[in-house]
Amino acid sequence: MHTFTKIVFTLLSAAAIAGTAACTSASAETESSEMREIRSGEIWPDNNGVHINAHGGGILAYDNKYYWFGEHKSDSTSSALVGVKCYSSTNLADWTDCGTALEVVDEAGHDLERGCVLERPKVVYNPLTKKFVMWFHLELKGKGYSAARYGVATADKPEGPYTYLRSGRVLPGVRPAGMTAEAAARADSLAKADLGDWWTESWYKAVDDGYLNSRDLGTGQMARDQTVFVDPADGKAYHIFSSEDNLTLIIAGLSDDFTSHSGKYVRVAPAGHNEAPAIFRQGDTLWMITSGCTGWAPNKARMFSAKDIYGPWTQHENPCVGPNADLTFGGQSTYILTIPGTDKHIFMADIWRPEHPSDARYIWLPITWSKDGKPEVQWRDSWTLADLKNNI
Ligand code: DGJ
Repeated sequence: MHTFTKIVFTLLSAAAIAGTAACTSASAETESSEMREIRSGEIWPDNNGVHINAHGGGILAYDNKYYWFGEHKSDSTSSALVGVKCYSSTNLADWTDCGTALEVVDEAGHDLERGCVLERPKVVYNPLTKKFVMWFHLELKGKGYSAARYGVATADKPEGPYTYLRSGRVLPGVRPAGMTAEAAARADSLAKADLGDWWTESWYKAVDDGYLNSRDLGTGQMARDQTVFVDPADGKAYHIFSSEDNLTLIIAGLSDDFTSHSGKYVRVAPAGHNEAPAIFRQGDTLWMITSGCTGWAPNKARMFSAKDIYGPWTQHENPCVGPNADLTFGGQSTYILTIPGTDKHIFMADIWRPEHPSDARYIWLPITWSKDGKPEVQWRDSWTLADLKNNI
């Protein structure tokens, strides 16, 4: 286990003995409950027998428990009518409904006004402030996807309630790390030029050269599909999101309290059209899985690796293998969970149902390794946490 992870888990175990059990499960989850099956693509009932409603989600491992945060979806709209739901579990198969962690607001003009778009929430724990920090993608009510903002909220307990802090675009006035004055001037002149049609060779070059980054310099960079990653190697946190009209990924460092951007960011795969970033560390390598950009419809996953979070990032083949692998088994990535204290990882994705959003399904599959040492995701009708711990 990495040194930082060891320290955090020792602190958290001490807190568990001293603290009270929050969001206690009604069901008795025991060691043997690690034999409970995880089945992708099916209805997944919670402790009340209701299909789990936590889409575009992520998992926080804290105090020997897992907390699943995700978008509450209603039956007929993908807009947020409730907020971010939280569930807890000890075995990743049986989940207790902990209620709404972050609620939408009945105040006209409020950033979180009921009917806004609130997507892909992720929660991390900050050991310095002892706060739980939630980041999410926010679109203002009635404005489609044009706001392209991040939102951030904090809580004293994992399950919340979360207090909304603010939303915005990312780092107005700040250029990407390492951009020379000459490159900045070129991006600025491209931003003022008429570039003609998209997808031409000269347009690709202009995106690569940062014309959209320059266009958005004053407002800050657009922030849509997103995740937050705490690197187990050193405890530093990063906000990773689709920017520049979803054409370019940005990886931005977070402040020590994880509630704002540090000021350093890099652009990854300009014009690559990546959404749905999910990331994990294995040894000295960071692996990131993303999707293409086809709305709610599934597409082929992409994979990147780097030795340093700020790059360079190298693109690899689709990590999914087997039948329907070219459509990510009908899903779109949302998160990769590393089981604490192990090098076992779970790929998580959503099968969207835009006509009946609350019926959207989940894909959770173990990450295995190809002969040439790359992550692979293979469909399994069912598997258990015990299987994963025993190498499947
Ligand atoms: C794809 C994104 O990954 C989803 O989170 C959502 O924003 C849909 N697009 C909306 O079409």
